[in-house]
Amino acid sequence: MQSEAALRVACLGGGPAGLYFAIAMKLRDARHEVVVVERNRPYDTFGWGVVLSDETLANLKAADPVSATEIAHGFVYWDDIATHYRGTVARSSGHGFCGIGRKRLLNILQDRARALGVELKFETEIESLEPYKGYDLIVAADGANSRVRTELAHVFRPDIEVRRNKYIWLGTHQRFDDAFTFIFEETDKGWIWAHAYQFEPETATFIVECSEATWRNFGFDAMSQEETLAACERIFAGNLGGNRLMTNARHLRGSAWLNFNRVLCQSWSHENIVLMGDSAATAHFSVGSGTKLALESAIALADYLHTEPTMAAAFERYEEDRRTQVLRLQSAARNSTEWFEDVERYLALHPVQLNYSLLTRSQRISHENLRQRDKAWLDGAEMWFEEQATGHKPNAARPPMFTPFRLRGMDLKNRVVVSPMAQYKAVDGTPTDWHLVHLAERAKGGAGLVVTEMTCVSPEGRITPGCTGLYAPEHEAAWKRIVDFVHAETDARIAIQLGHSGPKGSTQLGWEEMDAPLPTGNWELLAPSPVPWSPHNQVPREMTRADLQRVVGEYVAAAQMAERAGFDMLELHYAHGYLLSAFITPLTNRRTDEYGGSLEGRMRFPLELYRAVRAAWPEAKPISVRISASDWVGSHGITPADAVEIARLLKREGVDIIDVSAGQTSIEARPVYGRMFQTPFSDRIRNEVDIATMAVGNITEVDHVNSILMAGRADLVCLARPHLADPYWTLHAAARAGYTGTTWPKPYLAGRDQLYRLAARAETRAETWAETGTERV
Ligand SMILES: Cc1cc2nc3c(=O)[nH]c(=O)nc-3n(C[C@H](O)[C@H](O)[C@H](O)COP(=O)(O)OP(=O)(O)OC[C@H]3O[C@@H](n4cnc5c(N)ncnc54)[C@H](O)[C@@H]3O)c2cc1C
Ligand SMILES: Cc1cc2nc3c(=O)[nH]c(=O)nc-3n(C[C@H](O)[C@H](O)[C@H](O)COP(=O)(O)O)c2cc1C
Repeated sequence: MQSEAALRVACLGGGPAGLYFAIAMKLRDARHEVVVVERNRPYDTFGWGVVLSDETLANLKAADPVSATEIAHGFVYWDDIATHYRGTVARSSGHGFCGIGRKRLLNILQDRARALGVELKFETEIESLEPYKGYDLIVAADGANSRVRTELAHVFRPDIEVRRNKYIWLGTHQRFDDAFTFIFEETDKGWIWAHAYQFEPETATFIVECSEATWRNFGFDAMSQEETLAACERIFAGNLGGNRLMTNARHLRGSAWLNFNRVLCQSWSHENIVLMGDSAATAHFSVGSGTKLALESAIALADYLHTEPTMAAAFERYEEDRRTQVLRLQSAARNSTEWFEDVERYLALHPVQLNYSLLTRSQRISHENLRQRDKAWLDGAEMWFEEQATGHKPNAARPPMFTPFRLRGMDLKNRVVVSPMAQYKAVDGTPTDWHLVHLAERAKGGAGLVVTEMTCVSPEGRITPGCTGLYAPEHEAAWKRIVDFVHAETDARIAIQLGHSGPKGSTQLGWEEMDAPLPTGNWELLAPSPVPWSPHNQVPREMTRADLQRVVGEYVAAAQMAERAGFDMLELHYAHGYLLSAFITPLTNRRTDEYGGSLEGRMRFPLELYRAVRAAWPEAKPISVRISASDWVGSHGITPADAVEIARLLKREGVDIIDVSAGQTSIEARPVYGRMFQTPFSDRIRNEVDIATMAVGNITEVDHVNSILMAGRADLVCLARPHLADPYWTLHAAARAGYTGTTWPKPYLAGRDQLYRLAARAETRAETWAETGTERV
């Protein structure tokens, strides 16, 4: 701080955060008086090994080379991750971890702190803040169950989320020194698994985890620690080589099984008190970064206290800087936590795919990142994927995105889909030259499947006056011209999305006032119930039986026209608040007849309509249904769990693939956007219902597509906006990846060759830059 005065500092809690902060303060100004208060004795710490990355080690080296050298001496290194599952072991390399015993780490930090003149007060329980009020600075580093945070909960406002699974930290003398090891055991009580890693030559951490249901089935809730150890030894006998499991949590009452608490505080400081490490925020053990966060936060606060003009300013900078890091890590940790909570969904996957899904679970490791870590392993995984897709063993690997896919009699050359996108350029429902050029360009651009915009089955079923239709002979003829071009000039397949706008009809063009009624010339709206889209929209008329029958007839007629026009696939639009979606969601279906009420009732009309369309559509051609897998309004709307049931009902009827979108069903929706934000819904449906899916929503990179496919989160991947920006998205992606298996239109071959040459040159240049460390300017 700008003030020359030395500070009297109390670190409450002698874990990594408290000790390292004490060291960092003394290193910056030896005159600071620092005391660390800790309830344990110096040599009886709990927990086993902690994992640190090379990056953290570099930060420690910069902060204090003396303790960093000691820590580095204590490290056990390993490079591989091994997954034991149903008698197979999948192993990949290049992951580069190091581990150190928690006790060893703390002892190193205790010695270093002592040598720098820090006072260490062991066996002292912190009962309240009262005895420390006289200190200039109080650092609450008293862990995830922080007493200080609880005492000042009204100012720190902690948000504590108790996660679903049960886990227990154990140790063992069985060696796991060649790989970070995951062991999945299937038992008659349910799945149970271990995360095992070496942290000193003779000892490994062995964390056992399972669902609450499995935990109860085993009766762990009623077991003593000894009984738990014995039961876990029996379960994992095949991987323990006769070694015992050990606990060092005998201070905990009961069985020592825990639920992980995800902690995040709204405020990290109050007056002269500041939270640090687990007391401020925790990261799930499966991403192994709690200690890293604690150490790096300690360094950051010590820095700011010596660079900022006041303590308040230092706290502000510290919180701003560290909160960003914490949120980033907590986001990855949440993905990883959820993966383990939902793991039983993935255990039916092939071991190669399970392993891939495990490695990419936090979404921090991408497909290409895995290639850098272990090319041979990823090549093997890609070849496995291709074999599933083609039925024969390939000689070389190709990215999953470029593997073929078959649905009924329709063969797609790759997994990229141009997502349906309304163009608002039709005239009285007739697609124009705009549609020909727009769709033809995307079909030439390399995607395996191009889906038309929502094409409406009747004039009043249109969303806007500019929407395409398929209810008149001139529509059929215009669509046929487009389909014929796609089939004659490209090897893409083309699907038509059929829809009826229902309560969201009679609105302005997309680039005018979206979803707002027309200034003049509005038409009557139909819906399951008289519920308007918003207070500004028309109140729709509740559909009678006759209306339902008529609409089914319109869909059937449109499907027959689509067949005559030559489309390869039909997609029924049951999403986004339009007519069929309005039947499915309870937000807009208030019917009291058999077409309302329970999910089965609300699905009755969509299923009847599907059956009629299926009967009119050729057996060899597939049908997809697009759904909104979440209304994003909480439990009173459609939830992802409901979407699983919806997909089950559709599967039972013979739907070939579910196109998993979300939202746009209510103006109350509060979507959580982000990269690939709807993909978890597709993942859940695909793996719980065992039906093919398409993922969509903020999927922008080749890497996303490859990892979604390879991890079994979807079978096809739809991209909408990226295809507006670049009709040739797939061909360009192939060139960047150096993949030469795509077909370019013949007149464009010279352009293709130049693009590949430029891409190869850019790659070499990037490598040279990376080697020489030259910055791109
Ligand atoms: C028992 C335990 C075992 C763990 N084992 C592992 C592991 O094996 N691998 C891994 O990756 N992560 C492990 N973690 C998580 C990881 O260590 C934490 O993210 C990291 O230690 C955070 O550091 P910290 O200093 O903020 O908190 P902690 O390490 O929890 O340190 C807090 C310290 O404060 C002390 N304390 C708390 N309350 C009081 C009180 N009222 N009076 C006096 N002293 C108090 C505690 O005894 C503890 O020493 C473990 C955590 C705990 C608590
Ligand atoms: C201009 C535009 C028009 C759209 N029209 C439709 C449509 O007609 N039918 C449909 O199901 N989705 C439609 N969507 C939604 C997209 O298909 C896709 O689900 C959404 O844009 C998310 O994908 P993205 O992040 O790749 O853009 C439209 C999206 C855009 C951007």
